[in-house]
Amino acid sequence: MSEAVMSNPVSSVDPVLEARNLCKTFADGASQIRVIDQLNLKVLKGESLAIMGASGSGKSTLLHLLGGLDEPSSGEVLISGKQVSGLSEADLCQTRNSDIGFVYQFHHLLPEFCALENVAMPLLIAGDIALDEVRAIAAQKLKEVGLSHRENHKPGMLSGGERQRVAIARALVNQPKLLLADEPTGNLDHTNAMSVFEMLSALQQEHDLALVLVTHDDSLAKHMGSVKMLQDGGWA
Ligand SMILES: Nc1ncnc2c1ncn2[C@@H]1O[C@H](COP(=O)(O)OP(=O)(O)OP(=O)(O)O)[C@@H](O)[C@H]1O
Ligand SMILES: [Mg+2]
Repeated sequence: MSEAVMSNPVSSVDPVLEARNLCKTFADGASQIRVIDQLNLKVLKGESLAIMGASGSGKSTLLHLLGGLDEPSSGEVLISGKQVSGLSEADLCQTRNSDIGFVYQFHHLLPEFCALENVAMPLLIAGDIALDEVRAIAAQKLKEVGLSHRENHKPGMLSGGERQRVAIARALVNQPKLLLADEPTGNLDHTNAMSVFEMLSALQQEHDLALVLVTHDDSLAKHMGSVKMLQDGGWA
């Protein structure tokens, strides 16, 4: 085996995200429901994937597994070739914070903090950047989502679309390789949904992100690089 392979088993051609034979079973009283069943997936740098499927088909469950927010019953998730399931809790937190951005249907912003502070939060948690620089990076991300003029607004003073833009800026502030979005426009009217989605797509392309987007909306899914339907725990 060459020295390079021994010292660095993670290769630059590894998919940003890979799932191998992923299974997730939940207990339902005395029985078990297998929500994800032997599922495989690869998403490369710069690729965008829409995941669709009926309500209850397991889309959110899958996204939680892919983002290391929940443990699979069996199978593996790899981020840039690195197994997530083998990580200690501290390493898992660090991987989630630095490599993965999450956006949810409901923004999950902290209500008592302004937009700038919400965007800065992942940098503050990482804890290795001076405060002045944190402020500058967060302000730049808010600018990228068109919200420089809302820096000091708390979530309660923002519109639904603006809140989702702040949530997207927060998800991207640590320059992750992977963005996981679970119905990020599901709470918005059509016009706002399109506008937030277009901004998300533009950022994905600009930063060459791997993007996995769960959506019920065909008109959004068709703009993604590929579309997969989740059915009976696997791809339809
Ligand atoms: N923690 C849990 N314990 C038990 N069952 C669960 C748990 N989480 C999810 N489930 C079940 O797993 C199935 C898939 O749920 P999930 O939330 O992943 O669906 P979904 O495709 O995201 O649906 P929606 O489109 O409505 O958001 C559902 O039957 C749900 O009841
Ligand atoms: Mg869901």
